[in-house]
Amino acid sequence: MIILKTERDLQAMRPACRLAAVLLDEVAAFVRPGVTTRAIDEFAAARLSHYGARSAFLGYHQYPCHVCISVNEQVVHGLAGERRVEFGDIVSLDVGVAHNGFIGDTARTVPVGGCSLEAQRLLDVTEQALREGIAAAQAGNRVADIGRAVQRCVESNGYSVVREFVGHGVGRSMHEDPQVPNFVEPGRASHRLKPGMTIAIEPMVNRGGPGVKVLKDGWTVVTEDGELSAHFEHTVLITETGPEILTCHEQTELKRRAG
Ligand code: MF3
Ligand code: CO
Ligand code: CO
Repeated sequence: MIILKTERDLQAMRPACRLAAVLLDEVAAFVRPGVTTRAIDEFAAARLSHYGARSAFLGYHQYPCHVCISVNEQVVHGLAGERRVEFGDIVSLDVGVAHNGFIGDTARTVPVGGCSLEAQRLLDVTEQALREGIAAAQAGNRVADIGRAVQRCVESNGYSVVREFVGHGVGRSMHEDPQVPNFVEPGRASHRLKPGMTIAIEPMVNRGGPGVKVLKDGWTVVTEDGELSAHFEHTVLITETGPEILTCHEQTELKRRAG
């Protein structure tokens, strides 16, 4: 069942999403060569408590960390630990903030200090795929139009889209209907996008093949072929006049300045 958000819901959800955007920026700025993934997670925990917000991930199906930190060939759901990230690594940071009874979900992959041009291209294409997915999130379109836009962008650049994990509705719960795949399944029925829907669009893009597997820790998803993977995500509101990125504080500032 898809839950449409009322204006009142959105008044509570917007700040949760804005906090997620702020936290993601802060965590990304904290990442530097030599820092352990545990230190990154602890930094996120400290910022969350500073804001009086909670991690939406900690304890979710017993997930043990505040943010998801996935390095290089790790796709999503990495676990923080004693590993030190190094110059040249790429690190996927996925942040879920619970605040005001709602959740904001947003992710980005960043280089540690710097990275190879090839790795940077993977990041750029994945971010571009997210942008094109968002542009397709128009009322009257179908959910499948998002996946079609993402898949086209990714595959036309020679990369592949992960199939086992998908975007999703988000609101009072982290994973609501509908599922938002980053690919098209021919012949599969797909919901029409309606104003008031809030969805997390989140391409997971592999430099090699699309295959992934879960490590023995029960959480960390890695590419089957050991190639690099990237992940970008925004929580997006469908409106009459187009998609609105909720996990974006620059936009809020622009509006504030305009107003
Ligand atoms: N943030 C992930 C998503 O985008 C979900 C993380 S689930 C957790 O859907 F258990 F790992 F936290
Ligand atoms: Co996420
Ligand atoms: Co998500």
